[in-house]
Amino acid sequence: MKKVLHQKREGFSSSIGVIAAVLGSAVGLGNIWKFPYVTGANGGAAFILVYLLCLALVGVPVMLSEHLIGRHTKANAVGAFKVLQPRRPWYLVGGAGVLSAFLIMAFYTTVAGWVYAYIFKAAGGALLSAKPEETTLVFNTLVSGVGEPLFWQIFVLLVIGTIIMAGVTKGIERVTKVLMPLLFILLVIIDIRSLTLPGAGEGLSFLFKPDFSKITIGVILAALGLAFFKLSVGMGAMITYGSYVNKSENLPKMAIKVALADTLVSLMAGIAIFPAVFAFGFKPNAGPSLLFITIPTVFNSMPFGRVFMSLFFVLTAIAATGAMLSLLEVPVAYLTEQYQWTRRKATMVTILGIGLLGSTATLSNSLFAKVTVFGKTFFDFYDFSTSNILLPVGGIFIALFVGWQWGYVNVKREMSNEGQLTNDRLVRIFMFLVEYIVPFAIALVLLAGLNIIHF
Ligand code: PFF
Repeated sequence: MKKVLHQKREGFSSSIGVIAAVLGSAVGLGNIWKFPYVTGANGGAAFILVYLLCLALVGVPVMLSEHLIGRHTKANAVGAFKVLQPRRPWYLVGGAGVLSAFLIMAFYTTVAGWVYAYIFKAAGGALLSAKPEETTLVFNTLVSGVGEPLFWQIFVLLVIGTIIMAGVTKGIERVTKVLMPLLFILLVIIDIRSLTLPGAGEGLSFLFKPDFSKITIGVILAALGLAFFKLSVGMGAMITYGSYVNKSENLPKMAIKVALADTLVSLMAGIAIFPAVFAFGFKPNAGPSLLFITIPTVFNSMPFGRVFMSLFFVLTAIAATGAMLSLLEVPVAYLTEQYQWTRRKATMVTILGIGLLGSTATLSNSLFAKVTVFGKTFFDFYDFSTSNILLPVGGIFIALFVGWQWGYVNVKREMSNEGQLTNDRLVRIFMFLVEYIVPFAIALVLLAGLNIIHF
């Protein structure tokens, strides 16, 4: 078992490799699918400002907390807490993280399946229509089917299962290092196309001109949840990845870099989508279908649209795959390290579990359309309960643990790389954030957002 762990950690030994892996986890469907539609549903620019505030004050400190714990203990989400505090039940925070990974994967693989299917639809010409109603119909037919979306979900699971099982994180990293910049270049191209559409201005002002009357406590909770989901924090994925990070990395710098790069990709996806939404008369609050309906329309109005459209979905699929690897790594690292399972067994069992749970999300638009949990379809329930409850609650406990249990002396030692970096001011600001601001802000937003307290 030791050998397996050792090999895994080798993969993350260069600075570029670490950034690629952590950014590979952060950048995913969250940027290209979720960020635009959640922004659209919550009023645009004002929502983005609240989101940025959540990212800076809460998201980045929690990400850094996780990296510190992970790198220090060199253990999985549950094991890390057991190493640092064997006699208290803090490991339950890691346990909740493993559960979150399952629930997120349940709906994430559904959407990733749609993206994979779209690669073939785009290349085969099924999306070549200048009429928005026709692209809408293609999407509706796909998601309200049974066999087709299930097939793609299983396909996605097999792809990531194979990669994780083979333990080729190194290969994946090398591939994403090439493909991430490609995704970026392609986003620039679509942004240019989108910005030059007649009527693009309306989309831009939706995205950048804040109207604060749209901000309610529910909107703030959505922004907070999105910040957690986007940075892959609050559930131990960053503890797990942090455990593969070299002792000489500058962790605070890395967290800030990742948050900035991730935000840039989200904004670029917004610029790709919203001008088109307004130019073609769609509604910005269409929800999860937004990307799948607007992007084909944008591409159809440009030369070589079919090629670019196919490429766009290939790259979105790759971004989604990078993020899913980190999601899958949470339970796999937990099972291999805490129960000495082989990587193969851990992966197979996890994939099977996700497949069973995930099929209920995939069938939320067909067989299970009428089944609800707390008033939501399975798909919406997995999404809402993770982003808006489990991840923020995980964030509270991770911050409290680092701030009050682990404490200043240990944090300073880990954050300064045993005194090699002089960043005491930063350590103090960080401590203030995790001791007071992060737990208090999250608790307040959560309780109010869920209507438990009223102002
Ligand atoms: N950050 C990913 C995205 O924005 O698509 C989603 C995600 C990945 C969430 C990994 C949580 C996680 F552990």
